[in-house]
Amino acid sequence: MNILFMGPPGAGKGTQAEVIVKEFGIPHISTGDAFRLAIKQGTPIGLKAKEYMDQGLLVPDDVTIGIVEERLKQPDCEKGFLLDGFPRTLSQAEALDNILSSMNRKLDHVINLKVDRNRLLARLTGRRICKNCGSTYHVIFNPPKEDGVCDKCGGELYQRSDDNEESVGTRLDEYLNKTAPLLTFYEGKGLLRQIDGEMEIGAVSQEIVSLLRG
Ligand code: AP5
Ligand code: ZN
Repeated sequence: MNILFMGPPGAGKGTQAEVIVKEFGIPHISTGDAFRLAIKQGTPIGLKAKEYMDQGLLVPDDVTIGIVEERLKQPDCEKGFLLDGFPRTLSQAEALDNILSSMNRKLDHVINLKVDRNRLLARLTGRRICKNCGSTYHVIFNPPKEDGVCDKCGGELYQRSDDNEESVGTRLDEYLNKTAPLLTFYEGKGLLRQIDGEMEIGAVSQEIVSLLRG
């Protein structure tokens, strides 16, 4: 199954992806995670991406598309994949179509997690992530059992450097200007499915699983 998650920053794409990739046994492809890894490793792509990410701006298309193309051609994607955070511009969406058709593949589902803009700031500024396994928490909406410690692996929790009010404002504007128009693009292809992302985390997961099993 080839799935694409859409939705604004903080809509719950990463949180739901953790559940869905386990349920369906497919790899999770997150361009945000790929860039954060490249930054940690200090690669040239990481250095370039950091300039944009810290400000909340989108990384240029040429850098981003190459990363996804390489990843989709890995053997573990043959059984399907879950794309999270890509595409984010019309050129990325067109490039994805071309990459997939060159591989004789196509998207099966595009799922949009709908969350009102006024909820997103609180979600993002309260987010904490495990340094070790990448699990996502929230200080209020999904707190770990022990403050600052991952329930799953005991790893230390940290806050993303772009989860501050200023960067979040820019990320939301980038989403509205450059990414939201893709909803029309996928609607036109008859692929778009809407999910209410304002329900509790478990209820959102259930809705997505039943939609995908439907
Ligand atoms: P990326 O890492 O993709 O960030 P994003 O799109 O801003 O999305 P987030 O990870 O912030 O949100 P999410 O929807 O995954 O929410 P989460 O599940 O964590 O991108 C970062 C940057 O990389 C971009 O700004 C850009 O610079 C660059 N980049 C990446 N891809 C790119 C591309 N294709 N092109 C160009 N540049 C690119 O949830 C958020 C919080 O809410 C958590 O704390 C969670 O616990 C909580 N939460 C989740 N669900 C619920 C719920 N139902 N109820 C209550 N709380 C909830
Ligand atoms: Zn962990």
